[in-house]
Amino acid sequence: MKIAIVYGSTGGNAEDVAKKIQSNLKVDAELLDIGSTDADTINSFDALILGSSTWYDGELQDDWDAFDMDSLELKGKKVALFGVGDQQEYGDEFCNALGILYEVCVQKGAQIYGDKWSTEGYDFEASNAVVDGAFVGLAIDQENEEDLTDERVEKWVKNLEESSFFS
Ligand SMILES: Cc1cc2nc3c(=O)[nH]c(=O)nc-3n(C[C@H](O)[C@H](O)[C@H](O)COP(=O)(O)O)c2cc1C
Repeated sequence: MKIAIVYGSTGGNAEDVAKKIQSNLKVDAELLDIGSTDADTINSFDALILGSSTWYDGELQDDWDAFDMDSLELKGKKVALFGVGDQQEYGDEFCNALGILYEVCVQKGAQIYGDKWSTEGYDFEASNAVVDGAFVGLAIDQENEEDLTDERVEKWVKNLEESSFFS
């Protein structure tokens, strides 16, 4: 099973989180920067972990924004998501890019894993990455809670392993 972690990152935070996810996995996964890969490459994987930091007014990171989402073939594909944001400065749209990725993936028929991630322990006002009271993927705040990142990544990857994402 071929797995890729595809991230969009402007200042390196989402990239760091992608690398942490990669090093926690018990299986090999290729790391791809959405700014320097193409749809054919992404479509060649069996399962995807997609992540973006949030920018501007709760938007996708620039490289994701420039990417043609229509070119992704996600029907029936296993997809897990992560987002990186800042709860203190942008507490009204915390990790909105995670919610945007989720909507695209659901619309395209992906099977979402790693969702129902608890909002407990976070401190924000609103996020479109919260559906039915839980995040639709791993939410990370490198600006204010970097000390919690390793623990969060570890737990989220463990949840993924306990699901059928890797089988
Ligand atoms: C201009 C600007 C706008 C931002 N907008 C948001 C936002 O709407 N929601 C959020 O959660 N974080 C927001 N952030 C915080 C970034 O997502 C955060 O700094 C993140 O760690 C950047 O990750 P990157 O280095 O991978 O791009 C914003 C940051 C900047 C500088």
